[in-house]
Amino acid sequence: TICALNPLRQATAGLRRAGGPGARLALVPTMGALHEGHLTLVRRARELAEIVTVSIFVNPKQFGPNEDLDAYPRQLERDSDLLAAEGVDLLWAPDVAAMYPDGFATNISVEGVSAGLCGADRPGHFDGVATVVCKLFNQVAPDIALFGEKDWQQLAVIRRMARDLDLYAPMPDAIIGVATVREEDGLARSSRNAYLSAAQRAAAAALPRAMRAAVARMAAGDAAQPALDELTAALLAAGFGSVDYAELRDADSVAALAEPNGNARLFVAARIGGTRLIDNIPID
Ligand code: PAJ
Repeated sequence: TICALNPLRQATAGLRRAGGPGARLALVPTMGALHEGHLTLVRRARELAEIVTVSIFVNPKQFGPNEDLDAYPRQLERDSDLLAAEGVDLLWAPDVAAMYPDGFATNISVEGVSAGLCGADRPGHFDGVATVVCKLFNQVAPDIALFGEKDWQQLAVIRRMARDLDLYAPMPDAIIGVATVREEDGLARSSRNAYLSAAQRAAAAALPRAMRAAVARMAAGDAAQPALDELTAALLAAGFGSVDYAELRDADSVAALAEPNGNARLFVAARIGGTRLIDNIPID
């Protein structure tokens, strides 16, 4: 586990020397509280690269003033053991002062794809994500980086940023998306699932279920809006307190769609108790 930039650079240089000329270095950025979703990214990284690095940094810049920055689970020792068991070569775990030195004044804002969905509900969130991920790329200098499709809009923001800022030579292949890892009842794995009571956890299975039902209706030829209205009603009936959004968007540009276009995904964010859950699935 490395917490400062100079030792990090020495360590990655050492790993690259040991790996030899063709060795590829992968980075899996995370905020810790690792679960099977994160570990699936790590295992995919191991298939694609000889050197696997993981970062853990709970990034204050991507949390809003009334969000769960303080409550966010922090368990570095446990995470470090999990990663060691996966054979990860290096864990980069900077503290806030190392990531954002006094006077830090730079912001990366990716327009278009950051608008709407979580970008509308969480002002500044994707600026915080883009800024920290750009820094992580510059710090670790990976050949490839892996992100989960669970956070589809985030993946789109990072792909756009990497293209726009020439962060990688062989673009866009260097940013690798990994399919969402789910619990047995379909709920997407998330560090925030730990906030749920047993009753809320049971009710949360309505989210993927209602999404699949909406997609099935649209696949059968029903118009989108009635299917989305039924989805919202089903979540409220199941015990969700509110639905932040339930929308169709183009998979690549994340532009809003009135009806499926062959490249559409369904995106939902909904709250149960104080916990905000998100998910997205394709519409074939
Ligand atoms: P975090 O929520 O810890 O997620 C780290 C990575 O794991 C992200 O790429 C996310 O999409 C992926 N992931 C989480 N749950 C998953 C699941 N059930 N299936 C597949 N992948 C999953 O996302 C972040 O951290 C941060 O925004 C970060 C990119 C690290 C920037 O701070």
